[in-house]
Amino acid sequence: MLKLVVLISGGGSNLRALLEATRDADYPARVIAVGADRDAEGFEHAEAFGIPTFTVPFSSFADREAWGDELLEQIRSWQPDLVVLSGFMRLVPPRVVEAFSPRLINTHPAYLPEFPGAHGVRDALAAGVDETGASVIVVDDGVDSGPILRQERIPVLPGDTQASLHDRIKPVERRMLVQTILDIATGTIDLTEKTPA
Ligand code: GRF
Repeated sequence: MLKLVVLISGGGSNLRALLEATRDADYPARVIAVGADRDAEGFEHAEAFGIPTFTVPFSSFADREAWGDELLEQIRSWQPDLVVLSGFMRLVPPRVVEAFSPRLINTHPAYLPEFPGAHGVRDALAAGVDETGASVIVVDDGVDSGPILRQERIPVLPGDTQASLHDRIKPVERRMLVQTILDIATGTIDLTEKTPA
């Protein structure tokens, strides 16, 4: 049974989908803790499933390094087999990447390497492309630059807003995240072969 720590920052709809998947006794992964850099709305999903949460508020630390060290200790205390970023809106500090990658994955609402960074949906719209996508990647020291584990194309429709496009992307992200974690748990994906360059 793969033990997961999931990190969020916002509503946690992708986390919710993962929690729903773990209701299936045959799904070989369990979320053992949910963390965030703030008092995230998505904690409500963890609480609904009786899963412990932890908060490492970015604003409570003197600097990014001190915040990163505390985040690392909090994650490490759960001894996860895999750390999943799902709407975590901070760059992961190098010490956390070093400690966990490639057992550290992220979902991104674009077809990487297209539109990396915190505004992938907005940037795709602004670029006027007729298709974008969603990606599940291994987190490395860069910005959404790690090995791609799974990705799919998603159309941009006339009249799309950032919200309507993101709402079309998220279900794809959720399905890919649940499938990717299953593949990692069953060995279909061997993360040791995905060690960032
Ligand atoms: C997802 O699209 C994720 O890829 C991006 O932020 C969104 C988080 O959504 N980083 P939610 O918090 O899971 O609803």
